[in-house]
Amino acid sequence: MTEIIPAILAYSEKEFDDKVKQIGARASTIQIDVMDGLFVPNRTWADPAAVAKMRLPYTIEAHLMVADPLPAAQAWVAAGAQRIFVHAEAEGWRAAVQAAREEEREGGVAVNPNTPLSAIEEVINELDAVLVMGVNPGWSGQPFERLAIARVAELRSRYPRLRIEVDGGVNESNARELAAAGADGLVAASALFSAKNFEESFKALSRAANS
Ligand code: DX5
Repeated sequence: MTEIIPAILAYSEKEFDDKVKQIGARASTIQIDVMDGLFVPNRTWADPAAVAKMRLPYTIEAHLMVADPLPAAQAWVAAGAQRIFVHAEAEGWRAAVQAAREEEREGGVAVNPNTPLSAIEEVINELDAVLVMGVNPGWSGQPFERLAIARVAELRSRYPRLRIEVDGGVNESNARELAAAGADGLVAASALFSAKNFEESFKALSRAANS
């Protein structure tokens, strides 16, 4: 079963709350987009202490699109994130993965479309998950880069037990191929939140991924 994971990319706490309300009980895992305006040119609202106070009933992933991943990883682990993704393109990402794992949380790495998988090969056995990016991070609603499908297939063939997720440009037209290539989780924002009806688009995406 390939899991559909709504991504919350919010610019205020109110927008964050609104998106949580739209998700409701439909998803069991959510991914919070943390953008610092340095690693990516965009900046989101994502306050770990405020999110911790919400006591959200989900498995929480923090997608750390930040230039300084270690303190961000520590803050989100302290806030209750069960899985963090730091970017292989960010200085010090390995220490951030280790910090999460030392706290019995899952440490994952995200790889942008132009980053060769060889950049993470050396430590792949110290990773709990890989987030294959279908876009260059920073914005929601960008066009999907189809190379991500082959990258998922390559990772799956070499690492049968690795958790693989895809983020960026995921929608009904590529969900089945990504799941067939071996993705365990598909992260989506615009395919869910820009649709007319969140529940219908969530069900349609899940059907597409698991057909
Ligand atoms: C990086 C973000 C986005 C977001 C998904 O930009 O990580 O990829 O989660 O946005 P969509 O699903 O709209 O591409």
